[in-house]
Amino acid sequence: MTIHTMTNMNNSALVQTTEKPILRAFDIKKIRGDFPILSTKVNGKPLVYLDNGATGQKPGYVINAVSHYYKTTNSNVHRGAHYLSDKATQEFEQSRTTMQKFINAEHREEILWTRGTTESINLVAQSWGQRNIGPGDEIILSTLAHHSNIVPWQLLSEQTGATIKVINIKDNGELDIEQYKSLLGNKTKLVAIGHISNALGVINPIKEMIKLAHEVHAKVLIDGAQAVSHIQVDVQDLDCDFYAFSGHKMFAPMGIGILYGKKDLLEKMPPWQGGGEMIEKVTFEKTTFNKLPYKFEAGTPNVSGAIGIAAAADYLNSFDRKMLSDYESYLLDYATTSLEKINGLKVVGRDCHKASVISFNIDGCHAQDIGMMLDQQGIAVRTGHHCAMPLMQALNIDGTVRASLCFYNTTKEIDQLCKAIGVALGMLL
Ligand code: ALA
Repeated sequence: MTIHTMTNMNNSALVQTTEKPILRAFDIKKIRGDFPILSTKVNGKPLVYLDNGATGQKPGYVINAVSHYYKTTNSNVHRGAHYLSDKATQEFEQSRTTMQKFINAEHREEILWTRGTTESINLVAQSWGQRNIGPGDEIILSTLAHHSNIVPWQLLSEQTGATIKVINIKDNGELDIEQYKSLLGNKTKLVAIGHISNALGVINPIKEMIKLAHEVHAKVLIDGAQAVSHIQVDVQDLDCDFYAFSGHKMFAPMGIGILYGKKDLLEKMPPWQGGGEMIEKVTFEKTTFNKLPYKFEAGTPNVSGAIGIAAAADYLNSFDRKMLSDYESYLLDYATTSLEKINGLKVVGRDCHKASVISFNIDGCHAQDIGMMLDQQGIAVRTGHHCAMPLMQALNIDGTVRASLCFYNTTKEIDQLCKAIGVALGMLL
């Protein structure tokens, strides 16, 4: 791929070419033009897509990178003795380097391809966990956790006899750091926490929490699924031991994700799944394993997904990331102020450090009914427990309506949301 110059960068350039974008100014009209699906109509109304926590939409630049790969390069990697296989392997491994830089990992072999955050966490639980966790050891999780950062650890604790401890939340939805400190001790072997809560948008103080965990020699896994699209992540600065995230929430295709792990930990971990690629030599008596990162990449990988996630990283890097997150904060403030003018509407997770996610309930209405009526008006939100049932139990609610905002959303869309809620309430109450 060649590098664009600023002069030939225009609205349609990202949609129509696979050339790498360079630093762009924030222009909401042009940004929206990068995402073909945003011009869809739903029930005769322009789509207002506020379900970015579930998945992000894909810019033409990513769609074209994947399509270009299939048109020009498709082949299996690390296997063939032919031109296309060689080309596919080079692009696949270049994508790994792009992702190494995206999260500032020290070594490229610290980047493992997985199917997504869930698979990344399960890999750590079953490979690192089976080797390092035993009866009586403690694993600390948080009330804000997504099920994918709870269930793998429950499975591990059943297999090993380890105990799970939970960090409580305060009334505003933030983690109770004083109580977290009281949980840490010489039995703590692992702390597994989310970077940003998918249900409420709370940004956890993970750098501080990692430091505290390291003081008791525990390892830390961060579920970064909701963070990478909002925040520039630097795994060396955070000093986390593992960082898991998914492509589809950062504007890449579904079915591709990443597990970052510190090299010295990954070196000592046993393989998780067996198959092709992860071996060095196989006999019926004994198999020896490939080096990092291939030891953890059994079977034909998702090559087009790797191309897609690297394109998504290039796309995000074509902006000043701070500028994007400032705009998202502005949208969050605007949405909070506008929604709170609606009678009976209560934001869940208020006055805390948050990404652009706004969860709410309205007195006398079921979240699902509101979601359905918003859909009829072209507005996509998520309703329910958001795969965070223990959090809902702690908050004593069944669920919420969640509007998760992205830098391609606008204040006009938030106005449309508020107006549509007014219409829904007129029919529901
Ligand atoms: N974890 C995704 C969400 O929060 C699916 O919606």
